[in-house]
Amino acid sequence: MSNILIIDDDSGTRETLSDILQEEGYKVACAETGAQSLECLQKEEFQAVLLDLKLPDMNGLDILKDAMRLNPGLKVIVVSGYATLENTITALNEGAYAYITKPINMEMVKAIIKQAIMQYEFATKKREAEEEVRRLKEYNESILMSLPYAIIIFDKEQIVECVNLVYLNDFNLQEEAVINKNLFEVLPFTNSQKENIKQNIKKFLSGELVHTEEVKIDQRTFGYRFFDVLKGLLGEQKTGLIMRDSTSEKKIQQQLIQSEKLAGIGTMAMGIAHELNNPLFGIMGMAEALLAEKDPEKIKEYTEDIIKYSRNTAVIVKGLSIYSRSTEAGDMLLIDVNEKLNEAVKIARHSEKFDGVKVIKEYQSNKKILINSGELQQVFVNIINNAAHALNGNGELKLLTKSEEDSVVVQICDNGPGISKDFVGKIFEPFFTTKDPDKGTGLGLNIVYRIVQKYNGNISVESEKGKGTTFTIHFPIGE
Ligand SMILES: Nc1ncnc2c1ncn2[C@@H]1O[C@H](COP(=O)(O)OP(=O)(O)OP(=O)(O)O)[C@@H](O)[C@H]1O
Ligand SMILES: [Mg+2]
Repeated sequence: MSNILIIDDDSGTRETLSDILQEEGYKVACAETGAQSLECLQKEEFQAVLLDLKLPDMNGLDILKDAMRLNPGLKVIVVSGYATLENTITALNEGAYAYITKPINMEMVKAIIKQAIMQYEFATKKREAEEEVRRLKEYNESILMSLPYAIIIFDKEQIVECVNLVYLNDFNLQEEAVINKNLFEVLPFTNSQKENIKQNIKKFLSGELVHTEEVKIDQRTFGYRFFDVLKGLLGEQKTGLIMRDSTSEKKIQQQLIQSEKLAGIGTMAMGIAHELNNPLFGIMGMAEALLAEKDPEKIKEYTEDIIKYSRNTAVIVKGLSIYSRSTEAGDMLLIDVNEKLNEAVKIARHSEKFDGVKVIKEYQSNKKILINSGELQQVFVNIINNAAHALNGNGELKLLTKSEEDSVVVQICDNGPGISKDFVGKIFEPFFTTKDPDKGTGLGLNIVYRIVQKYNGNISVESEKGKGTTFTIHFPIGE
């Protein structure tokens, strides 16, 4: 409710005014002297005051001054029995809202009070709104200032309007050297970087998506991107440039890439060594047999085998490509799968205990596949070696081939101890092994997997603890 103070030494006037204004719905207080009225003004907030200039203890104009000092928005309506032009002008100069004379025209007083209160409320609301805007602005600025990134804000003409402390600190600049300057004068970029950022600003302003870009400044790397500032709120569109120093992250990233590369090289080197061991053991075994052999036919056969397996070692060294991402296959030929299985058994015989193992062959497919012969041999030797190891010189190894609609299926089965459920999902991972470190590296099946994938084939395993293991490979038919 609006609060009105009546200051008059005449009790009749006070009472009449008070009654009428209360009837209008205002809250009314009265003061008889200057001292009383100042006391009231200090205690309460009033929207309007009706002030009689002629008071026993004080000059009304002095009360006006004090009242305006206490509440600059207060609407003081001066009431006087003797209106002189001089008095009127002084009162208005001191901030009085209106000047009326006695005898009081009540209708006029009501109208003036109504108007005064409306203005008072409007001014209060305006002040509150301004205060809120100022608070929000301060809040925004404090966010901008406390963000740990360098920020610079510029207008359409690329004139810098504001920078934060991080920007000034990062580039060792003073605020005066940046504000109201052209953006390109104050960016610590090289000319080509500036050209680049110019293009990106254009793109950004035309609504295109601009991803975070990187710039090198001195020895540091910064990622930068743009953002819209107060678009629509203050009318004019401004643009912000935010820059993040990512030097240390970059360094760590590069170290990581480097160590990943080194680890990759290690895996590759071990893989090659692993694959060279298989044919080398075969060659060694045959050379030993050759020493003891007298039959010229057998000697010829062993020598031919040695030459063949030696060639395969060369293929394996060349087969580095399974470690690169390239899907490029080596020299491909139409290969008889059955023949390769026979060869693989021969090689495996020399590297694993095979004496008591019964090999059963069920070759039902005579289709050929298009593949690199050395790599197909790697696939079979690895699986057969594992089976032989599992059988430990005792059991059955079954090799089966059959043709399906558009693929040749190879199955290599053993009735060894099988693979536990927990491990079945892991056996194709590099370095997964259940063998002692000097017996296995865990690379065999990973190499198999990569080669089969490379030729658009597919490999799966079925195994039951105590019953045995079956590897099934599908290769696309090559003819
Ligand atoms: N026929 C199988 N019977 C039982 N377990 C097998 C068989 N084949 C593979 N495994 C299991 O899968 C694991 C991984 O085989 P993989 O050939 O990748 O490595 P590895 O034989 O242990 O070592 P290497 O690198 O010398 O080949 C083996 O350690 C073994 O536990
Ligand atoms: Mg193995």
